Amino acid sequence: MLNDKTILVTGGTGSFGRAFTDHVLTNYDVKKIIIYSRDEFKQWTMENDFRAKYPDKIKKLRFFIGDVRDRDRFRRACQGVDYIVHAAALKQVPACEYNPNEAINTNINGAMNVIEGALDAGVTRVVALSTDKAVNPVNLYGGTKFVSDKLFVAANAYAGEKDVNFSIVRYGNVAGSRGSIIPFFRSIIEKGGTEFPITDYRMTRFWISLTQGVELVIKALAEARGGETFISKIPSFKITDLAEAMLPGCTMKEVGIRPGEKLHEVMVTVEDSYNTYEFENHYIVYPQIILSARRGPDGTGKKVEPGFSYSSGNNTEWMSVEDIRARLHEADIGH
Ligand SMILES: NC(=O)c1ccc[n+]([C@@H]2O[C@H](COP(=O)([O-])OP(=O)(O)OC[C@H]3O[C@@H](n4cnc5c(N)ncnc54)[C@H](OP(=O)(O)O)[C@@H]3O)[C@@H](O)[C@H]2O)c1
Repeated sequence: MLNDKTILVTGGTGSFGRAFTDHVLTNYDVKKIIIYSRDEFKQWTMENDFRAKYPDKIKKLRFFIGDVRDRDRFRRACQGVDYIVHAAALKQVPACEYNPNEAINTNINGAMNVIEGALDAGVTRVVALSTDKAVNPVNLYGGTKFVSDKLFVAANAYAGEKDVNFSIVRYGNVAGSRGSIIPFFRSIIEKGGTEFPITDYRMTRFWISLTQGVELVIKALAEARGGETFISKIPSFKITDLAEAMLPGCTMKEVGIRPGEKLHEVMVTVEDSYNTYEFENHYIVYPQIILSARRGPDGTGKKVEPGFSYSSGNNTEWMSVEDIRARLHEADIGH
């Protein structure tokens, strides 16, 4: 369904955007991928890397310098675009706490510009990336992404008879991503350390790779009817098991949970359960208010029991120390 389409990726030079572009160029024959972001150096580097890897396909990549906060510029970039993947965001929790206006401008006002640009330019599919931190948010980053999610759901109401839908993909920290626990533990090992600070011995996380995130976005582009939040079924691991997998026999010290940190990553809340359907490899949370007959469940999923929730703490699929070690090697991270 991506063949012959023009796709615009906001934040296309980021970790997700690069992985998405790589995956799409490898597996589909798109017309164009437009990378929309601010920093010319990141665009230049990406262009060079992709020119080396895909000399025959580089003409399909276009680089557009622009800020999602700039409505006119974004509207210009949307001309002729079929699909938008909205990945641009400020996403470091402390940076958002210290610079709330900046977080609001990019994550909320930027989202509004993406929606309006898409509606005005006749884009047919928009998928916005969200995070577990938008679920019952406890920090401003999560708060801004919560509002952004609401905006994308509500945008379906503005579509009228137009052939456009807006949906969301939600996942947690990508294994090995910058600022996450794996590079942190690795930096301790590299300095010769043998003791890991653990904020809470009970802490758990989901394990998702960038490729799984990309595949979920492509699923949403293909299957969304408007307003859904797509969530992958993925395994959980204990942080203490991760430490053991990265450095067998290491010692650990409990240092206390940090402000804004959660014990478990929550993807589906009990409140969501009334509108959540289970599929073979994913869940979909539908909006509480279904805005039109062409949106909402299509009868293919199974409604979850009322009171169900899906978090890294109550998952049924767990990774052992050996599983984690194998994944670290497979993904070439953390060792
Ligand atoms: N990484 C994770 O573990 C994770 C987990 C869950 C959800 N997510 C979500 O996934 C999305 C992508 O994350 P990522 O890891 O790829 O982030 P990233 O590596 O930090 O990349 C962010 C991208 O957004 C661009 N950007 C930032 N502000 C912008 C603005 N105002 N206008 C236009 N472009 C802007 C950046 O380029 P310039 O600086 O050049 O503009 C960069 O291309 C985000 O929405 C994030 O919330 C990420």
